[in-house]
Formats: sequence, C-alpha cells, structure tokens
Amino acid sequence: MRHGLVRSRLLGSVADQVGQTPLLRLERIGESAPSVEIYAKLEFANPGGSVKDRPALRMMLDAIQDGRLAAGKTLISVELVMPSNVTKARKDIVQAFGAKIIYSDPMEGSDGAIRLVHKLAGENADRYFYPNQYANPSNPGAHYLGTGREILDALGDRITHFVTGLGTTGTMMGTSKRLKEHPRPIRCIAVQPKDALHGLEGLKHLPSSIVPEIYDDAIPDETMWIGTEDGWDMADRLAREEGLFVGHSSGANVFAALQIAEKLHKEQGGGCVVTIICDRGDRYFAPMKWEKRYTW
Ligand SMILES: Cc1ncc(COP(=O)(O)O)c(C=O)c1O
Repeated sequence: MRHGLVRSRLLGSVADQVGQTPLLRLERIGESAPSVEIYAKLEFANPGGSVKDRPALRMMLDAIQDGRLAAGKTLISVELVMPSNVTKARKDIVQAFGAKIIYSDPMEGSDGAIRLVHKLAGENADRYFYPNQYANPSNPGAHYLGTGREILDALGDRITHFVTGLGTTGTMMGTSKRLKEHPRPIRCIAVQPKDALHGLEGLKHLPSSIVPEIYDDAIPDETMWIGTEDGWDMADRLAREEGLFVGHSSGANVFAALQIAEKLHKEQGGGCVVTIICDRGDRYFAPMKWEKRYTW
C-alpha cells in the first residue's frame, strides 16, 4: 500500500457509495511506454458494480428534485428493456435487484431496446417514468460533476489525455466537458467498435446505430476504432498482468489508452493518459473465452 487512504467510512445509504472511485496506475500494462503514466478509474467500485451507477443515481435525484418523479411517491417497481441475448449474468443481476425484464429483439441490439421502450413509455405515459439515459442531461451531468472533477482532483495538471468508449456517450460527454474547462488543454479521445457487428458489450458503433441525443460530435478531439479481438485480448491481459478482471468495453478502453501512451512515449517522451474501467468481468463469463470467436 502506497498510502493510507481509509476505506472503512460510515455510510447512511448505499447511494453515498456512488462515485469517489479509485484511480489505479497500470504499471505493468504500461511497460511498453515507460515515460507515460496510464491510469484507470475503477468504476466497478460503485455499489452496482459499474459506471452506470453514477447516471442512474443522478437521473433519479434530478427527477425527484424537479418533480418529474413526484416527491412523496414511492418507486415500487423497475422494468428494464434489454435485448434477449444480453449475458445470463446481466439478466440474473437485474432480477436479483427485483427488476422485471422486458426483452427486445436480439437481432436489433440496444437500438431494438430503445425502440421498444419508446413505444411502451409512449403508450403508457401515466404508468411509467422513463428516465431515457440517451437523452437525459443528468447522464453526462453525473460525469461532469463526478468523474471529471474526481480525475482533476486526483491528477490536476498531470493529465494530458482522456480516452473512453461510447455507449450512451454520457461518460465521454460529461467527463470531457469538465476536463476541457481545465486551463491546460487535455485531449479527449472517444473509442468506438471498428465493426457494426461487434462483441464489445456496452459500446456502440455510432455510424450504424441510433445516435444518442446527448452526443455532441464536437466534444471528442478524435475517435479511435477498436476491434473486438483487441478489446477481449486486453481484458485477458489485465486479469493476468494487473490482477484486474474487467469487461470487454474496459479492455477496449485500455487497449486504446496503451496505443496513445506508446505514441506519446515515442514522440514526446512523456504524458499521462486516463481511461475508465466500466465494470468487472464476472458478468461476461458466458460466452466463455473459447467461444468468443463465435459470438459476433
Ligand atoms: C459495460 C459498459 N461499458 C461502457 C459503457 C458506455 O458508457 P456510456 O453509456 O457512459 O457511454 C456502458 C454503458 O452503457 C457499459 O454498460
């Protein structure tokens, strides 16, 4: 242990544990770029185990505050629309929290889920509060107020580059907006799957998808297009070399961060690259590694 940060604090609610996630230096993965620091923000440390805790909480708090989710009412049930081919672990986790799953067409991916939820929410407006993370400013807002600020608090002037994948695009939009307010320029790079049909769950190939309303293409300084194999292989490397067992979107993020770091090492002899570990690998046990070539 390099420092004596106390983790055993008292919490009044599980919501108090969302955010303030650790930033881990990836020294072994970064050995091929020794003059550059690579840091990973460990979003699996949120109580729900993923980067999505931040926008989920912010969307609820903001909706309660402005009356969309009327104060005094109790949230008694959650229904989630997801493609029927999401991993079994994801289905199990959601059901363990008591949510009901409504399945959309597996062939239509997350866009099919978006179309179905719009139809259901539109037809039953009195029954549902639909927070719509793809259009809700509280999604990037959570990352502007949290993720971006926390990175600057921890690294200050050292950070030169930020790179992360696009799903709803909330992480990229909100974090980059905050980083771009910093007096010294920080280059913000988006990651997208190289192919329309890919195995990087959580990420979107925007040219073939419904583009989220919160996405502003002026925010990323650059987009890197990453192959499924590269994301999966980096997830394997992270487990073996760093003791970090992460999902494939995180593998793609770190693969991109390492490419940036290697270029900086060669051309500038220094730099500090920050990326996001979106969730842990447990929820991707199926498909197993040896099946991976047949899953997309
Ligand atoms: C595993 C995983 N990785 C990455 C992302 C992308 O994050 P964002 O939606 O903020 O773009 C998501 C979000 O859905 C995700 O679930």
